[in-house]
Amino acid sequence: MALLPILQYPDPRLHTVAAPVSVVNDEIRSLIKDMSDTMHAAPGVGLAATQVDVHRRVIIIDLSETRDRLRVFINPEIIASSGKSDCEEGCLSVPGIFEKVTRAERITVRALDAQGKPFELDADGMLAVCIQHEMDHLEGKVFVEYLSRLKQRRILAKLRKQRQRVM
Ligand code: NI
Repeated sequence: MALLPILQYPDPRLHTVAAPVSVVNDEIRSLIKDMSDTMHAAPGVGLAATQVDVHRRVIIIDLSETRDRLRVFINPEIIASSGKSDCEEGCLSVPGIFEKVTRAERITVRALDAQGKPFELDADGMLAVCIQHEMDHLEGKVFVEYLSRLKQRRILAKLRKQRQRVM
């Protein structure tokens, strides 16, 4: 089991745009295994490769209570979306901060699985929110960047205080 360090906002590396995966090979599967160990240990429900400083288009999600239903999306693309919904989000790169973000309510995503096989998935609810949140990471975007400047400044101050307490 390998736990990878998770980049913490406002680390500038979180703003890197990830490159597509050209071949889904053992190196990518090993990255997915390490990301899954890291996400489950955190614990969290979603993780993008960006957050572990690997700038490839890979995201994982596990919303199951039993923590054994890992969903893998390689080179994910949203090919259809509709509706709007507000949901409170959190992020392993922004610990202790939960804020409402407006996103599409329903999406259809196209991606490759861990074997490199293409699939399409219709998602709504938490799964749709998570996919959109994690896909943002691949574009170098962190969810707090949807909030007002004032809120972002408050969050940065709060994170700074939290980190001083830890040190
Ligand atoms: Ni996140």
